[in-house]
Amino acid sequence: MGRIYLDHAATTPVDPRVLEAMQPFFSEKFGNASSLHSEGTEAAEALEKSRETVAGALGAKPDEVVFTSGGSESDNLAIKGFAYANRKKGNRIVTSAIEHPAVLNTCRYLEKNGFRVTYVPVGRNGIVDLNALEKAVTEETILVSIMHANNEIGTIQPLGKISEIAKRRGVALHTDAVQTFGKIETDADKLGADLLSLSGHKIYGPKGVGALFVRKGTVLEPLIHGGEHEKGLRAGTENVAGIAGLAEATRICAKEMNGEAARETRLRDRLLKGILETPGSWLNGHRTKRLPNNANFSFRHVEGESLVLYLDMKGIAASTGSACSSLKLEPSHVLRAIGLTPEEAHGSLRLTLGRATTAKDIETVLEIIPGEVEKLRKISPMAGMSALEKKRLEKQPHGHGRHGKACD
Ligand SMILES: Cc1ncc(COP(=O)(O)O)c(C=O)c1O
Repeated sequence: MGRIYLDHAATTPVDPRVLEAMQPFFSEKFGNASSLHSEGTEAAEALEKSRETVAGALGAKPDEVVFTSGGSESDNLAIKGFAYANRKKGNRIVTSAIEHPAVLNTCRYLEKNGFRVTYVPVGRNGIVDLNALEKAVTEETILVSIMHANNEIGTIQPLGKISEIAKRRGVALHTDAVQTFGKIETDADKLGADLLSLSGHKIYGPKGVGALFVRKGTVLEPLIHGGEHEKGLRAGTENVAGIAGLAEATRICAKEMNGEAARETRLRDRLLKGILETPGSWLNGHRTKRLPNNANFSFRHVEGESLVLYLDMKGIAASTGSACSSLKLEPSHVLRAIGLTPEEAHGSLRLTLGRATTAKDIETVLEIIPGEVEKLRKISPMAGMSALEKKRLEKQPHGHGRHGKACD
């Protein structure tokens, strides 16, 4: 049996069509896009063609797209860049408790540098509490940053409503769309976003490349100083091969998105139904307002990390909901924010489907997982713990995974 890769939220394989589109920029089309000669012009043309493609998928204009090194840099440029450029207007940023560390830790950095940040809670289903958001957006607020969909539990936020709240107060909206771009519609106007982050490696493109949509009129302070690349917003010779790959990945997603989303939703729903027959299991995140490819479960008295290792030995690549904090064994901040106890949060398993996932893969996974869960329960110290011991464990402090492994 071949391996079954169910960790597409972490990263995706590069599509062969993307690889083919990138190839010439490593060899015959090697020019620097800033050079005046023909080689340079060729690279500059490829860059601008790529910008048009990415802008097209966002319903944006090409000059509203800034290429970056990926989702993390886009989030940093959006939040720090906006905060520093607009600090005369106010010093408050509003975000949610379940953002990716690229947003959360950027906000924490700004807190150390004179900004105030409000972390709005989410409900049990992972949807941002809109009343709390409404209250949090005050006169001093300059930016709201709420992710389009969560990388762990897949919950899709009501961005239309969120942008209405921000707009009513004249506040800009940034959204981290790293997990949605290429999977569901991400038209910047429809979402009401002024800033939108995306990444290449989540959409069968290369790693180390991404983009930030910057609505015309939105002022940012650059984070990387140097040449006048990317309209002075991001210095450095452009990664033309990577950008061409991102554009090709975007083009393929735009063409195949609807069919693929429907196919993955069907497979995911079969997975949900099958897994939830396991006693002591439940689904994390919203049942329907979730990414087509995302399933996130908890299994009582099972340690997620151990389950991932057991599944790996059976040929299945999965993830816990808490890749960021697995080294410190801290439970996921997302699962804690939706109300899970530390013990419950430790027992999570994230399965994220992709283009290569078949119905047969899902049936295989459904045959394997219940047995592995059972094996782990048999050796789980939690299963035999007294109520008092469990309470003590559940009271352990939790963090935001700042010191753990890299996150996806
Ligand atoms: C929601 C979200 N934001 C940001 C990132 C960071 O993107 P990148 O890996 O391209 O830096 C990721 C993935 O790691 C993500 O899932």
